[in-house]
Amino acid sequence: MDSLLKLKNVNLKYQTGNDTIKVLKNVNLETKKNESISIVGESGSGKTSLIMLAGGLEKATSGKIFFEDQEISKMSEDEVSKIRRKNIGIVFQSFYLIPVSYTHLTLPTIYSV
Ligand SMILES: Nc1ncnc2c1ncn2[C@@H]1O[C@H](COP(=O)(O)OP(=O)(O)OP(=O)(O)O)[C@@H](O)[C@H]1O
Ligand SMILES: [Mg+2]
Repeated sequence: MDSLLKLKNVNLKYQTGNDTIKVLKNVNLETKKNESISIVGESGSGKTSLIMLAGGLEKATSGKIFFEDQEISKMSEDEVSKIRRKNIGIVFQSFYLIPVSYTHLTLPTIYSV
């Protein structure tokens, strides 16, 4: 009941030209509420990819992802966005700045309506 994030048999592959990169292979993970965890691994091991899946910003190739026992991996982008904007904060490795700076200030008010 106090499950926060759960990944079940999650696989993620990227296709670049003729090459398939298997980034995440059969990942199983469960975190509980009020738990603090760190994901560590060498560069390219898939940490950012895992965060993108957990935040619903990327779709897994296969497997299931749950946030508070709701399966986000089968939700539409709009449904996941609603859960993300209320519950999930991500500090990106890259800045993802929006070209017009005031948009950073106005965007949250638009999305919170
Ligand atoms: N959009 C993408 N298209 C193709 N390959 C990708 C994409 N994003 C990540 N990869 C590949 O997936 C693998 C894992 O990348 P990821 O960025 O998740 O690793 P990381 O553990 O966060 O690395 P770092 O410590 O350098 O941040 C790498 O081989 C990377 O090149
Ligand atoms: Mg990274």
